[in-house]
Amino acid sequence: MTTARIVLLPGDGIGPEIVSVGQSVLEVVAQRFDHEFSFETGIIGGCAIDQSGTPLPEETLAACCSSDAILLGAVGGPKWDDPSAATRPEQGLLTLRKELGLFANLRPISAHPQLVDASPLKREIIEGVDILFVRELTGGIYFGESGRRESSGGEAAFSEMVYQQDEIERVVRLAAEAARGRSGKLTSVDKANVLEVSRLWRQVAERVVREEYADLEYDVVLVDAMAMHLISRPTDFDVVVTGNMFGDILTDEGSMLPGSLGLLPSASLGESGPGLYEPIHGSAPDIAGQGIANPLATVLAAAMLLRHSLGLETEAVAVEAAVAGVLDAGHRTADIAAGGPAIGTAEMGQLVLDALAG
Ligand code: IPM
Ligand code: MG
Repeated sequence: MTTARIVLLPGDGIGPEIVSVGQSVLEVVAQRFDHEFSFETGIIGGCAIDQSGTPLPEETLAACCSSDAILLGAVGGPKWDDPSAATRPEQGLLTLRKELGLFANLRPISAHPQLVDASPLKREIIEGVDILFVRELTGGIYFGESGRRESSGGEAAFSEMVYQQDEIERVVRLAAEAARGRSGKLTSVDKANVLEVSRLWRQVAERVVREEYADLEYDVVLVDAMAMHLISRPTDFDVVVTGNMFGDILTDEGSMLPGSLGLLPSASLGESGPGLYEPIHGSAPDIAGQGIANPLATVLAAAMLLRHSLGLETEAVAVEAAVAGVLDAGHRTADIAAGGPAIGTAEMGQLVLDALAG
């Protein structure tokens, strides 16, 4: 029996609706497999700014630090979009990643056979896509020096992109380990033809792979070329490791391969301590509160939580199988219904729970 303390961070927009489905799934897993999960809910993002003046209140951070795993919905929305605001919802998420040392963001992208036609790309291009993006998450341009200064051309602004050797080594190792557990193929993405920071990235990544992972099939691709290859020949890639901003952009692009953002989970992991699990889609304020959001990405994030933070592989597979079963049976939320009949968040959640309960 596993005992776990799980923190729920619903956040903004559709966050509360989908996290509640995620929680129910974890509760049913605990029941069926005889575990004991306790839940605590914290505020983060825009709602936290409204309630406490900061996007990551101390109590939320403290609860996360002393938990085994965190399930997050989404943060942000037009209400907090003013670029001149003192603080932004996104800052809550960035601080949480940094404080917990979550340096690796795993974003698996695979095309569910039933949903191939929901993709804007042709069936023959995306059939069989199965990529694991490993995005560096606590360094690079997101966390470098930034500021404003006077220049000869008026006001100027800068954001520095810095990577230290040890930051590159640890994320490349994590990606290489993942590649060993898959098809043994690893691709590192950089912009070494232009950026010094990318030249260090390439050097360090190549050395780590040569010295420690010589069994892998390894290649390097420039980020602009990767943007093309990702939609022209996505099945050529298995594990892809890259820096924070390149990973942010490429994973949004990659998320279009399976057709819907609504199915893609992500895990943010550190050296030790709790992992953070979330759907990769945003807070979708346009449909918040309507009960029509697709909860499946959050459910699949809960599966990743079971696997990576609690070591419960059988349970994770059971959740993934339940989701696949529901999709195979033809059930669709509006985002993946392609204009056909659609069910709501709660109904979709209930179908997964029923499938799980067996
Ligand atoms: C993501 C998001 C975040 C990021 C935002 C919300 C800060 O786009 O998780 O990809 O840029 O990392
Ligand atoms: Mg992003």
